[in-house]
Amino acid sequence: MEGINLNQIGVSFKGSGSYVPNQILTNHDISEKVDTSDEWIKSRTGISQRRISGLEEDVSQMGYKAALKAIKMTNWDIETIDLIILATSTPNDLFGSAPSIQEKLGANNAVAFDLTAACSGFLFAAITASQFLKTGSYKRAIVIGSDQLSSYVDWNDRRSCILFGDGAGAIAIEATNEFDNLIGFDMRTDGQRGCFLNLSSQNNQDVIVNNINCSTGGFSSITMNGQEVYKFAVREVPLIIDNLLKKNKYSSENVDWLLLHQANKRILDSVGDRLNISKGKILSNLSNYGNTSAATIPLILDEAVRNNKIKQNDVIATSGFGAGLSWGAALIRWG
Ligand code: COA
Repeated sequence: MEGINLNQIGVSFKGSGSYVPNQILTNHDISEKVDTSDEWIKSRTGISQRRISGLEEDVSQMGYKAALKAIKMTNWDIETIDLIILATSTPNDLFGSAPSIQEKLGANNAVAFDLTAACSGFLFAAITASQFLKTGSYKRAIVIGSDQLSSYVDWNDRRSCILFGDGAGAIAIEATNEFDNLIGFDMRTDGQRGCFLNLSSQNNQDVIVNNINCSTGGFSSITMNGQEVYKFAVREVPLIIDNLLKKNKYSSENVDWLLLHQANKRILDSVGDRLNISKGKILSNLSNYGNTSAATIPLILDEAVRNNKIKQNDVIATSGFGAGLSWGAALIRWG
C-alpha cells in the first residue's frame, strides 16, 4: 500500500508472533561451567533456563519465523506490507539483517532496515514505525525484535552469562483514521552511563600498506556492571512510566498489564511496587527465557496474547531499558 493519507491519525495493533530456539540451557547446566548454582541464579534474577540458537539459526531466521506468525494473525496479504523494522544488536549481517527477512517473507513492497538500541530496541522500533503510520506515509508495518546474545556472552563470566538467552518476537501495526492505540510514549538516552553495559568492537589493528593503519572488524564479549544497571533500571523505569501515565491522564488502576523488559525478577517487582501495580498485572516469562534483549517485549506480549491474558482493548504500560544506556515507555491499547 502506498501514498500519503493525511487522514491517518493513529495506529492499531493487529497481530503478534514469536519464536524461540529449541536448545534449552538450564541454570544447572551453567553451574557446570562457572561457579554458580540454580538457587543463586533463581533467587537473584528469577531465571531458571534460557534458549540458545542452534548452529543453523541466526537473527534473521528467528525474526522471520516470528514475523510470519504475526502476519498470519492479521490475514494481511504479504504484498501490502510497507515497512519492516528489525530491532537487533546481533545482526547476522552488519549491513542489516532486515532485508533478508523481507526476502524470506516475500514482502517485496516493504522497505526493511535494522535499528539498534539494545534492550530498548523493540520499543524504539515500534514507536518509530508508528510515526511513519501516523503521518500517513505508510499503512502497514511489521516490527521485529530478534537477538542472539549467546554469541557474545562471555560464558566464563558468572556475573553476566546467567542472564541472557536468544529469541525473537514481532508485531503487526496498521494505520487507522478512527482511533490511536499508541496512547503515548517517551524515549531516553544517557550516553554518560553507557560504560555500564557494552558489546564493543575489539579494536584490533592492521596495516593496509606502508603507514596506513586500520582497525579490523570483530566484537568483544558483553561487559556489564550489574549493580549500576540494576540501580538505573529501578530508578528510571518507574519514573518514565509514571510520567507517561500522568501526561496522558491515566493512573495505575487504568493499566491492565505492566509489560517490562525481562531483565530481572527483582526489577519487575520493584517497578511494580513503585507504580502501585499489583503482582497479578505484571507479565513475566523470565524464568523460561532470561533476557532476550530486543526480543523480550514482543516475545512475552505474543505469549500473553495467545494464551488470552491480553485481550482486545486492554491497556498495556510497557517499558524497555538497557545498554546505551537507553530506556523508553509506551502506553498502548491492544488491538
Ligand atoms: N553465582 C554466584 N555468585 C555470584 C554470581 C553468580 N552467577 N554472580 C555474582 N556472584 C557473587 C559476586 O561475586 C558477589 O560476591 P561477593 O559478595 O563475595 O563479592 C555476590 O555474588 C553479590 O554480587 P552482586 O553483583 O552484588 O550481585 P547482585 O545481587 O547485584 O546480582 C545481578 C547480580 C547481575 C543479577 C544484578 O546486579 C542484576 O540483575 N543487574 C542488572 C543486570 C541487567 O539486567 N542487565 C541487562 C539490562 S538490559
